[in-house]
Amino acid sequence: MLKTHTCGELRLENAGQTVTLAGWVNRRRDQGGLIFIDLRDRWGVTQVVIDQASNPDAHQIASDSRSEFVLQVTGLVRRRPEGTDNPELETGLVEVVADKISQLNASKTPPFYIHKEEKIEEVRRMEYRYLDLRRPRMQQNIILRHRTMKFIRDYLDAQRFIEIETPILFKTTPEGAREFLVPSRYHAGKFYALAQSPQQFKQLLMVSGYERYFQIARCFRDEDLRGERQPEFTQLDLEMSFVEREDVMSLIEALMTDLVEKVSGKQLLFKPFKRLTFREAMESYGSDKPDLRYGLEAIDISDLGGKCAFPVLVSNVAEGKPVKVMRVPGAAKVSGTLLRKQAADLETLARGAGAKGLAYIALPENEAEEVKGPAAKYFTVEQKMELIQRTGAQPGDLLLFISDTRKVVYAVTDILRRTLAAQMNLGDPNILAFCWVYDFPLVEWNEDEKRWDPSHHLFTAPVWDDIQYMDSDPGRMRGQQYDLACNGYEVAGGSIRIHKADLQERILKLIGQDLEHARKMFGHLLEAFTYGVPPHGGIAWGLDRLVMLFAGEPNIREVIAFPKTQTGADIMVNAPSPAAAKQLAEVHISVVEEDIEDEEKGS
Ligand code: AMO
Ligand code: AMP
Repeated sequence: MLKTHTCGELRLENAGQTVTLAGWVNRRRDQGGLIFIDLRDRWGVTQVVIDQASNPDAHQIASDSRSEFVLQVTGLVRRRPEGTDNPELETGLVEVVADKISQLNASKTPPFYIHKEEKIEEVRRMEYRYLDLRRPRMQQNIILRHRTMKFIRDYLDAQRFIEIETPILFKTTPEGAREFLVPSRYHAGKFYALAQSPQQFKQLLMVSGYERYFQIARCFRDEDLRGERQPEFTQLDLEMSFVEREDVMSLIEALMTDLVEKVSGKQLLFKPFKRLTFREAMESYGSDKPDLRYGLEAIDISDLGGKCAFPVLVSNVAEGKPVKVMRVPGAAKVSGTLLRKQAADLETLARGAGAKGLAYIALPENEAEEVKGPAAKYFTVEQKMELIQRTGAQPGDLLLFISDTRKVVYAVTDILRRTLAAQMNLGDPNILAFCWVYDFPLVEWNEDEKRWDPSHHLFTAPVWDDIQYMDSDPGRMRGQQYDLACNGYEVAGGSIRIHKADLQERILKLIGQDLEHARKMFGHLLEAFTYGVPPHGGIAWGLDRLVMLFAGEPNIREVIAFPKTQTGADIMVNAPSPAAAKQLAEVHISVVEEDIEDEEKGS
């Protein structure tokens, strides 16, 4: 080893020892006869002192060194002189008096600071990702990710799970997301698809009798990217045999609880985790991944809406549309002008989500004053008292009225909650509010395609008692699905699976798969289902999203060593890139010239 100690480990007890350190120049302070170098490696920073009088050679090398040069330093550890301790550093009580310095490598001036936090343009960070990853914040994130995966592996191993790898080169199946295609050289005109998830293989492993499988698996989906999505991402994928929904949920909850408490440094808001049916989540929060760190629930007041004198609400209720009210604590504690401006901004937001308006009542801070706002005049004093009582409203609160079709009400509720919470800083990043959402509808009507789509995936089993509605009222069937939401993100999703070929065929037919075609696509699974398949179920976590929440980062790129940008590009290696004509010919691909021209015009 070129070092005897790391740059993070020397303490007072080491004083008097001769040590060798190696790392990067974090900072250099030249005080003439004395040069101080903070030497950094991934474990920390140690101060090195170089004295010209006693060691002119080492002083010369130190004097020639700049930020990010790679040095090896041998010297004596000593207690720092009185008054020069640095409490910010774990090694801050000692320093190394350099006896010998070797310059292992020089460095150009980096495009941004490594040793101090500053706002750096993201393209710049991505272009020089290897330098970005040197920054302490990124190193902490990457180490946190490692610790998370290690904890999961050890935990599941102790629970008698085994990790099995499954193919990444898979075949194209209508499982959900758009796939990445890989042309085949041996089979002209045929393609592999990169696996969207190990879903079918893990079910086949249950057929094979492995009973408790997991895998930290890379998945590939050609989706439109957002902060919480990458084209290649990592799942903790898991499957179990001879289980019911409750078994999977309780195992996962125990693992997640332990992981959060031992690894994340964050606090759990709910222990046990909160549970909401899909319907409850949508009715109260307008989302199947609600952020439960704050209130802002939508409270149903359709009965009051129908009785008041507000024409829109009365006619909506008559048409069976709900009326909801959302209490925004303290939002009316502003001047009349500001209140009207804020309400107008919220109304614009609501209209963007499909609403026709957003009436409100502002409760004055002084209870002697009259309530204000466009909805105030339509409610009698008793009705206002009732509103206040049902919402728990306090003086200075704002009450927002949301009324439309359920779909619009959900969308408006969700966007209002997210926006208000961000504006009012309601989501404490140190708190993780895990919530199970279950009893999703098995299938959803797709108006564009005029067919039923699975709301999770087509292998999800219906709630057994609901199979009776398959032909008469498919939308009424609930799926044996469960999602785990946290702080407004979907961090995991899974289900109990169909394990009988005839039921799987019925579902395929229901979702509009031509049976011949489906047999071609899923023949392997349907055939496997004829050889004694155990009842089984599982789940997959979005590991990137989870580590993002653990790290308190705003997007998953911050916890992936080499992520793609929003357009799916890697600007460090410059991917995707054109392929040579010979390569293309080998895989029987020809590229349409006009498409390339369009792409060049577009970018
Ligand atoms: P699902 O498609 O819900 O389920 O994926 C599971 C979890 O993976 C995460 N996730 C993503 N993370 C980053 N970028 C993406 N593009 C992305 N897409 C999904 C989410 C999600 O909850 N085979 C099933 C699981 C099962 O039924 O067992 C599946 O893949 O956090
Ligand atoms: P007015 O014109 O005084 O009757 O009040 C109209 C108010 O009702 C405005 O504040 C609108 O934003 C609001 N409004 C209109 N349609 C709806 C609706 N569907 N839900 C909630 N508020 C609405």
